[in-house]
Amino acid sequence: MPAAPLPRLRLLATGGTIAGAQTAGRGYRAAALSIEALVAAVPQLATLAQIEVEQVAKLGSQDMTEAVWRKLAARAQAALDDPAITGVVITHGTDTMEETAYFLSLVVRSEKPVVLVGAMRPATAMSADGPMNLFNAIAVATTPAAHRRGVLVVANDEIHFAREVTKTNTTQLGTFHSGQRGLAGLVNAGRPHFYAPPVRRHTAASEFAPLVAASARARTLPVAASVSEWPLPRVDIIFAHAGMDRALIEAAVAAGARGLVIAGVGDGNLGAPALAACAAAAKKGVAVVRSSRTGGGVVERNIEIDDDRLGFIAADELNPQKARVLLMLGLTRTTDPRALQELFLAY
Ligand code: SIN
Repeated sequence: MPAAPLPRLRLLATGGTIAGAQTAGRGYRAAALSIEALVAAVPQLATLAQIEVEQVAKLGSQDMTEAVWRKLAARAQAALDDPAITGVVITHGTDTMEETAYFLSLVVRSEKPVVLVGAMRPATAMSADGPMNLFNAIAVATTPAAHRRGVLVVANDEIHFAREVTKTNTTQLGTFHSGQRGLAGLVNAGRPHFYAPPVRRHTAASEFAPLVAASARARTLPVAASVSEWPLPRVDIIFAHAGMDRALIEAAVAAGARGLVIAGVGDGNLGAPALAACAAAAKKGVAVVRSSRTGGGVVERNIEIDDDRLGFIAADELNPQKARVLLMLGLTRTTDPRALQELFLAY
């Protein structure tokens, strides 16, 4: 009997260290190599899937923009809407991968897998981690078990949910962690094992998906009715610290922020002057979300701070960078703090 054809997979590339090349001395340049070069370096990929590549961007992920997010969402959606395509893999720098992954998990409408993959060592480095990470990512994106799990991140033999994953280490291979929720699964040399379902709304169940109207995915990319505003409303993250004053909060509001995410101390807390500045911002209609700079735990309402009285929103489990993504999308719908709070309990 002839062998069944391999699944068709769309591989979208954005750059990052996975496409990085070392330079003279100790340095390297992210996004130096094309996606064709990365695929050619791993001939074993041809045993997993028929791979169609597209270079969507070529940047270090510190330079990721909303414009690239939108293009990625559109290209991923177009691929996922094609019945012949099994799944999508996106190569991405690790620095802001969690933000792109969470954004896509809110704006892409599909039950098929979308897997982001990166590397901590440049492609030209000794013992580069990119080739195995890419192999594993494609294996995950082509397994039926990955369906309905939303957007995933694969690195270092681990599978993470977009909502839970965060980068925790500057240089080490095991940089990604999924905190209190734990891993989605493991992947051993192309053999995925899933352990848990995602816990919150995403992708096919997201009210923000699809981002880009079906009729215009390919070219001009008008925003769909699901997200009525583009560019997204400005949301700034303010990092709290001992001895903090009002200045940064007032500067963000003066710069036009419609939302503030506070990376608060401890349980999303702030000293008195900064708290007063946030209260004044909320009174003016700026959405104020309290998250935590601790890297773990839940920020609940009305514990040390009277959120009901001040009109604040508690970030629940989202770290500041993901709270910013959800707040930007939420502000396209409502400025009501109670309605925004509901989003933070749902996504
Ligand atoms: C980047 O995020 O583009 C650079 C760092 C990395 O990919 O690990």
